[in-house]
Amino acid sequence: MKRIVVLGSTGSIGTQTLDVARRHADELEIVGLAVGTRAGELLAQAREFGVRHLAVGDERLAGEPVADELRAQARGASAGAPSSLAQAMAQRGGGSLGFGAQAVVDLVRLPEADIVVNALVGAAGLRASYETLRAGKVLALANKESLVVGGDLIMPLAAAVDAQRRADGAAPDTGPAGALMPIDSEHGAIYQCLLGEDAREVARLWVTASGGPFRGRTRAELGGITPAQALAHPTWNMGAKISIDSSTLMNKGLEVIEAHHLFAMPYDRISVVVQPQSAIHSMVEFADGSVKAHLGTTDMRIPIQFALSYPARWDAPVEPLDFTKLGSLEFAAPDTDTFRCLALARAAGERGGTLPCAMNAANEVAVAAFLAEEGTYLGIAECVEAVMDAHDVERVESLEQLEAVDAWARAEARAWIAGR
Ligand SMILES: NC(=O)c1ccc[n+]([C@@H]2O[C@H](COP(=O)([O-])OP(=O)(O)OC[C@H]3O[C@@H](n4cnc5c(N)ncnc54)[C@H](OP(=O)(O)O)[C@@H]3O)[C@@H](O)[C@H]2O)c1
Repeated sequence: MKRIVVLGSTGSIGTQTLDVARRHADELEIVGLAVGTRAGELLAQAREFGVRHLAVGDERLAGEPVADELRAQARGASAGAPSSLAQAMAQRGGGSLGFGAQAVVDLVRLPEADIVVNALVGAAGLRASYETLRAGKVLALANKESLVVGGDLIMPLAAAVDAQRRADGAAPDTGPAGALMPIDSEHGAIYQCLLGEDAREVARLWVTASGGPFRGRTRAELGGITPAQALAHPTWNMGAKISIDSSTLMNKGLEVIEAHHLFAMPYDRISVVVQPQSAIHSMVEFADGSVKAHLGTTDMRIPIQFALSYPARWDAPVEPLDFTKLGSLEFAAPDTDTFRCLALARAAGERGGTLPCAMNAANEVAVAAFLAEEGTYLGIAECVEAVMDAHDVERVESLEQLEAVDAWARAEARAWIAGR
């Protein structure tokens, strides 16, 4: 039985993670849950899965009536829990309930947890990723911003947990030790293509992109895009921030940086290709010209499940891909002149240091402003570029330094938007 903490359990990845746990109750036990604001949904999840370690990011909710029900749940006195679960909860001992950012991070250190699923959104997830690995636990990572911002700090920690897992006999006999399991479908795909391979024989990583809802449009046609139009992704149903990032191709830029860190691959050997059907989730090209591709149904429960089941494979939670109905597969180069965020993110990654942190923070602010109809769609790339230009890049040294750069870049981005 693997015991997991899910951070961001009310979101798109979080709820799908719980669905995987529901289908594999013999393999997975949820021991901790954290959300931002949806405390009522958290309570329902805690009751269903019998979870008594809970955290709510928004401190203001501590005084709301739902907080009393959450406290009762943490004490194990919840009237809503089925009796079998209530019994099991009572045997497990005391629970905990916290409010605020620190309470969310504290959950990752739960002694009974083996794996932390980080499905928080944005750079707010960095500290949780960092502390998960520092606590020696497996990090199942959806929060790609953690690696974009803090890859230079996270990857050495992951290597240390890998070494410890090997020393403890917790790692599989062959293949990666599994301390850092990507949930992003592209990186999950590459991870699987690399299993059994010699890293020295890898020539190139091909990260596939759907192209987003505005594929084929010109820059002039993107001028009046509204949040509703940008939120309608053609192949994936995701949270608001990643949906906008997918439409601007910033998401692909973040994924290039993520791939660089996860697979220790230089940027000039990471290519992006548009694959509109999203059937190929990414590919690895080898020195002899062979290419391995990972295909599957477009359902995030597959990569989520693999991140949790590795090195085993469990029954598929979804209908398998029917190749007789797939039709044709198309490929195209991304249009980085129109979708400038991809080129900006790649440039930030190549320059390295604290620039990806500043770039990411500016993007988060510009996306939030666009969603609130306080900024324009094309303004997202312009804002990111302005903040990147203004940033004095430093070598990454600490989490505190990255948090300071993040705060500086957010203030710069807000000032840039206010000045338009
Ligand atoms: N969705 C996908 O298909 C997909 C695919 C690949 C990678 N990812 C990555 O996975 C991450 C999550 O994406 P998503 O689409 O699942 O996002 P989402 O639907 O917006 O969910 C975000 C989750 O994080 C919680 N949260 C937000 N701020 C928080 C805070 N300050 N403290 C505690 N919890 C907080 C939210 O809680 P409340 O709702 O209660 O506020 C929610 O549970 C992102 O990094 C994204 O890039 C997503």
